[in-house]
Amino acid sequence: MDPTLRRQGEAARGFLLPSEGLALHGAGLIGGQVGPLLEVGSYCGKSAVYLGAAARECRTVLYTIDHHRGSEEQQPGQDYYEPGLVGPDGRIDSLPALRVTLAEAGLDEEVVIIVARSGTVSTYWRTPLGLVFIDGSHTEESVRADFQGWSPHLIAGGILAIHDVFPDPADGGGAPFLIFTEALASGAFEPLVEEASLRVLRRIA
Ligand SMILES: C[S@@+](CC[C@H](N)C(=O)[O-])C[C@H]1O[C@@H](n2cnc3c(N)ncnc32)[C@H](O)[C@@H]1O
Repeated sequence: MDPTLRRQGEAARGFLLPSEGLALHGAGLIGGQVGPLLEVGSYCGKSAVYLGAAARECRTVLYTIDHHRGSEEQQPGQDYYEPGLVGPDGRIDSLPALRVTLAEAGLDEEVVIIVARSGTVSTYWRTPLGLVFIDGSHTEESVRADFQGWSPHLIAGGILAIHDVFPDPADGGGAPFLIFTEALASGAFEPLVEEASLRVLRRIA
């Protein structure tokens, strides 16, 4: 991808901004005191580096889940298609890039890679968590399934972080904002941090 286009793209939906990464790291330091961290949507590992570093500081781990076949917007012809990520079978495969990112960051021990659909893993998950970061598919059905599948595993005092929360759907789709407002309205979460399109909540019940 052309570097200029990449920079423009990073200011829009889909790529974590440095300021969001730092806020996520701070959230990981809080959640890591409570329990292990988990993210939905590893992609090539940008957010995993911020959260993995927090996990290391807290002497815990980050579980990072992705089927590595890309979200809707990362498929051929879509805005976030990355030809460099196409595997030998012609399908998107972001797993090799994730492994390089984590190795270069020295986080192989602290970040546990899970290659699977989020819903498959959440159904069988049994470990209480200190942080859940939702950044997988952004369809309403998927974001809702991620919230419903993972938030019950959050320990009280643990952190729920959601990326790409845009009050105006024209800025990048409305599903994460919908789930963010529903989480607040449930009374089970209190708002902690807002940074660009990242929202950080704490479980209070
Ligand atoms: C926006 S990217 C994640 C970006 C990453 N958090 C970062 O900051 O670099 C979304 C990722 O979610 C993954 N994904 C989409 N739906 C998924 C699902 N149901 N289960 C697991 N991963 C999914 C896609 O393969 C894609 O890599």
